[in-house]
Amino acid sequence: MYKLTRGVLVSVEGIDGSGKSTLTRTLAERLSQSLPTLLTKEPGDTPLGQQIRTLVQEKKVAICPKAEYLLFAADRAQHFDQVIIPALKKNILVISDRLADSSLAYQGFGRGLDCTMINTINTWAMNERYPDVTLYIKVSPDVAYERIIKRQEALTSFEQEKKTFMLNVLKGFESIFKERSNVLYISGEQNPEDVLQDAHTQLIQWLITHYFLSTL
Ligand code: TYD
Repeated sequence: MYKLTRGVLVSVEGIDGSGKSTLTRTLAERLSQSLPTLLTKEPGDTPLGQQIRTLVQEKKVAICPKAEYLLFAADRAQHFDQVIIPALKKNILVISDRLADSSLAYQGFGRGLDCTMINTINTWAMNERYPDVTLYIKVSPDVAYERIIKRQEALTSFEQEKKTFMLNVLKGFESIFKERSNVLYISGEQNPEDVLQDAHTQLIQWLITHYFLSTL
């Protein structure tokens, strides 16, 4: 049995249709059996964030790329202030379905906004509290598209974008993560149980190696 030595922030990232939300939910369920765990998400895990989520996903009014990014940044600032920082202070393992890297990939690489500016604003919105480790769910755009179509749910504004947009987002994630040493790669093309097992094993190993977990 293990215990946390301090609060840990884990982000889960991937393109739409990567299976990220299913994994984040099942992983948080499994982790919560032995560790104090909080499942959260961007956009939308605060009352303000829920309103922002509706704005950016439905796009009933025109939103230019800079305004779109700033809405995600506002959601992020509220999320860190109201949810993430208080939980980390209580030594909880916080697992977030998307965080700042989604803005770099979607608004930076997808929409062509300046990544240096995004990084500066993200850092400020997050009070310089970056994720300790990121799980990146890797799938090909073809697999992701097939899943999105099969879901039979109304598509979000991002899911309605052309395939080139998602390809740029994918290239964005790959380019951001190849510079980092704290990214765990998970194949999202396995069945959901294997994705969960793979992510759980890699994460626990990483937490032990980096002294976030100690034996009871
Ligand atoms: P959501 O339904 O949560 O999608 P998913 O479950 O696939 O994460 O919608 C979030 C959408 O918002 C998703 O298409 C990615 C996009 N997004 C950005 O473009 N920038 C961001 O900073 C964040 C956090 C999300």
